[in-house]
Order: sequence, then structure tokens, then C-alpha cells
Amino acid sequence: MIPELNFEIREKDIGARIGRLEINCKRIETPTIMPVINPLKEIISIEELHKDFNVEILMTNAYILLKNENLRETVLKKGIHKFLGFDGVIATDSGSFQLMQYGNVLTTNKEIIDFQERIGSDIGSFLDIPSLPDTYKARAEEQLELTLKRAEEAKYAKFVVNAGIQGSTYLDLRKKAARKIGKDFQLCAVGGIVGIMEDYRFSDLVDIIATVKKNIPLDRVVHAFGLGHPVVFSLAIALGCDLFDSAAYALYANELRYMTETGTKKLNELKYIPCNCPVCSKYDLELKELEKNELIKELARHNLYVTFEELKRIKEAIYEGNLWNLLSIRMRSHPNLLSGLERLLKYNKYLAEIDKITNKSAFYYLGRESKHRTEIINVKRRLKRVSSNNLLNIPPFGFVPLELTEIYPFISTITPESKKRDDIPHSIPDIKKVRAMMEYQFGRGAGELISDNAIIKKSRKTGRMRWIYEDNELIASIRASDNWILPKEKLAKRLHKRFPYPMLRVVIDEEAVPFIMDGKSVFCKFVLDIDKNLRCMDEVLIVDVNDNLIRTGTLYLSPREIVNFRYGVAVRVR
Ligand code: GUN
Ligand code: ZN
Repeated sequence: MIPELNFEIREKDIGARIGRLEINCKRIETPTIMPVINPLKEIISIEELHKDFNVEILMTNAYILLKNENLRETVLKKGIHKFLGFDGVIATDSGSFQLMQYGNVLTTNKEIIDFQERIGSDIGSFLDIPSLPDTYKARAEEQLELTLKRAEEAKYAKFVVNAGIQGSTYLDLRKKAARKIGKDFQLCAVGGIVGIMEDYRFSDLVDIIATVKKNIPLDRVVHAFGLGHPVVFSLAIALGCDLFDSAAYALYANELRYMTETGTKKLNELKYIPCNCPVCSKYDLELKELEKNELIKELARHNLYVTFEELKRIKEAIYEGNLWNLLSIRMRSHPNLLSGLERLLKYNKYLAEIDKITNKSAFYYLGRESKHRTEIINVKRRLKRVSSNNLLNIPPFGFVPLELTEIYPFISTITPESKKRDDIPHSIPDIKKVRAMMEYQFGRGAGELISDNAIIKKSRKTGRMRWIYEDNELIASIRASDNWILPKEKLAKRLHKRFPYPMLRVVIDEEAVPFIMDGKSVFCKFVLDIDKNLRCMDEVLIVDVNDNLIRTGTLYLSPREIVNFRYGVAVRVR
């Protein structure tokens, strides 16, 4: 059996994505977390994980199974799915974690790969060597060399390889590892970060994850190995991590530690129980009185509820387009998280390239980091296209042409010192606004494409500009959520003529032309070329190889993603 992995993006915000991941015909939504099951000590039953927590993917340890004589024979006979009684996606780890903890393991790379193939893991690992943070560089280098050699031996494994990227805290080593692993494997795991996480070194964590992301294709599924605490999920997901694994829910429970989305508490120090999950609402303070084994189980359940709750909250934020807001809140849970957020800003140019150019959520100023959000970079570049004599200071963007104040993000930017919109003079003629909006969206010169006899109609309900007509023909509509201009055929033709190839264009394969003419979406695999200055959510011209205009549409991903992805929608056709 050849292992199959399909991955496509459904929603995105900053560097985060909600993805659809399909492994061996089993489909899951990312970002998600794989609860880790210790085959020797099951704290929450797999049946319960499946029924009460909707777990569709979990992780267990192949090394422990291999080294236990009783279990080994059973699991070899039954296969891992029957053995665990779970027909979702099963990932297995190789013993690398034990290697990191005890300094050695009693197996070889080949043996553990072979074992995972024989038990039928959907996802497996080779025996990568997690270097300790700040270990001697020569040592980290040596361990990385061996890891990459072992990766080579796993290239043709009969499972989806969860390929460890190592390199300790040395970013040049991480870069080298990411390039090699990213080239050969679809599922890339940022490894050796457990110690960094334990020491709350979140700025180092950001450096490592960002370095890896920048050096692998964007269609690779990214797993943050051993990251299981909800405090960091939003940070890691904003950078583009898709998978997590958590033994933490159980390990913390064993130590009577109570997880919250903002940090960990010692259960016996709590005066109140600050949660209403099924466990906490059932017991409230009586939770503390439970007999030890029962308490550990219930605490593990609570920890897992909190973990999944935070994931849902993050996915909702991605969907709504306000992940920046959630980040601003979460990263104020601990000073080291705040420095993690500060460090993330170092990568905002990279993130701005993949983020959306417009958004359905308001821009809230929530702290210093808001001045460096991805939007600021994209907006400042676009503002260079528009000249105006009437400027209005809209912090944190600076001076903005008055003509543009009705479009995203200016219309919906709320800062502590925000003026009421009524204060903005309404003296600008609509035609001037529309021309400036054209320049902002499409480039210098696009404003001239709206002729003097254009008639701009407004919504009777909101009084906002909605349609642009010329000689009774609708040439563009204006989207209500962000006041973005959506060109119709006539205006699209003018844009096509005014802006030379490859500007504003998505070039598609001949094979896809009939489907696009039919109004079907453009899939990534049919895109041959794309204007790199476009941004996700831009309106684009869809052309064939001879630059004939086929249709217009909305860019669903960033150009970088479209180039990297084989699966999923690139452009939604109008
Ligand atoms: N578990 C926690 N960290 C790691 C890692 O870096 N590699 C592997 N294989 N397992 C891990
Ligand atoms: Zn709870």
C-alpha cells in the first residue's frame, strides 16, 4: 500500500490555516491535536476519546509496543487499529522521545520503521534525534546528520512519515534540516522543542517554527512535536502549524495540575474551579476530594476539554478573520508569551505575503503589536499606488487618502483614540472615491478605467456605494462587508488591457478553460503562473496561456500557496 496524504486549505488568517487533511481515505480537519495514548497505561479510554471528545486522530508509541513482549505479538497479529479498537488515523512515534530522555534506545531505525509498517500505522516516525536546546553546536550538527541519514532510510516507508526536523536552537541547522526534509516529505515535524516549551522560551519557539516554515513548501502539513499545552496553540497556529500532540493532558493530571488556556494551576491551590466543562460542572470543588486515581482520570478529562476548547476558539477566530485579536489577548497571559508575540513580528513580512489583503473582521488596536500586524505591511505597499491631496491620519496606518476611508481596513479600524466616523468630512465625490479604490486594489492607472459618465448607485438601506454603472451596464459591484470593488466583464476587459501580463493575472492550463468558463473554481494544480504581487482575497483576471481573458474571480489563497499546493481551490470564479 502506498501511503496517501491529501491536504488543502479551507480558511486562513495570518499564517494559520484550517485545512482538510486526508490520510488513507480518512479525513480530519486541522489544526488539531493528537491525544497521546500510553499503551501500558490508558488514562482515558479510546472509546471515550472517540465518543466524548470526537477524537479522529491519535498518537501512540511504537517503541513501547515493540519492547513489550506480550503486546508486541498481539499488535503484530491484530494490527494497530484492531489492537487499540480505533479506526481513525493512528500515528506512532519511534522511540525518539525515549532517546531524548534516557540517552539511548534498544532498537535501530530500520527495525522501528519496519515494525510500524507491519502494525499498519497510518503515520509513523523514523528514529530522529531530538537535540537538546543550546547543546554544543558540533553535537547538534552531528545529531542532525544522523537524523537526515535516518530520514533517507524512511523515504519509501509504507506509512505517511512524520519527518522530524531537528537542529536544536541553531537556526542555520533548522534551515538546513527544513530544506532537506521539506523536499522529501509531506508531513514535517518540528522536533526537539519539548524542553523549549517546558522552559517557556516562546521567542525561541517562534524562531524555530518560523525558520522551518520559511524553508519548506507551504503545502506541507506541519506538526509541532510534543506541543500539547493550549497556551501556545494560537501562537504556533498563527505561524502555520497544523498538528499537535499531547501527552500533557495526562502527564499534568498525574501531577494534579489543572490546565487553563492561559496557564497551569496546581489543583490543590485553587479556591474556585474556573471552568464549566462536564467534569468541572459535575464536581466543582468536590473535584479535589476525589480518590487519587479517580481524580487523575477526571483531571485528564478536564485538561483535554480545555485543550479542544481552545482549538475550537482558534478555528473560529481563523474563520472570522480575527486571529490577531485572539493572539493579542492570549499572549498577555505570561511575559514570555508576550516576547513570543514580539518575536513573531520579526516574521511579519513573510506572514504578510500569505495573509489576506481584506477581511470580514474589524481591525482592533489591542497593543503595541497591532502597529506591526500583517495588514500594516500590505496596506502601506498598496497606499503607494494612490495619490491624494486629502489625507486623514488613521492610526496605526498613518495618513490615508480620504477617498479610501470607506474600505477595509480603514472603515473598520478601531483604536483607543478612534474618531467617530461622523467626524470624517463627506465632501469627496463618489467618483473620486471609486477611482482611488481602483488604484488601491489594482494599481496606479486603474482609476482612469472608471469613465466620467459612470453612475454610482447606493444601497437604500445603508447609504453606501454598491453598484457602478456605465450606459446602463453594470461594470462593477461593491461588496458590503469591506467595500471592495468586484469588476464585471466590461471593467475586467479594461483592466486586462491597461495592465500588461502577468499583472493581476492567474494563468490557467488549457485543460481547465471549459470548466472555468462554466463558472467552476480554479484548482491549484491548473494554475501555471500568477502575479506575485497579488494577495489572498484580491480580485484577479483569469487568463489562458495566450493571455485571453476567461473570467474574473477572487483569489482564495496567496500566490505562494497556489504555487506550492497541488490540491484545493486557488480562485473562486465570479
Ligand atoms: N516527541 C517529542 N519530541 C519529539 C521529537 O523531536 N521527535 C520524535 N520522534 N518524537 C518526539
Ligand atoms: Zn473543566
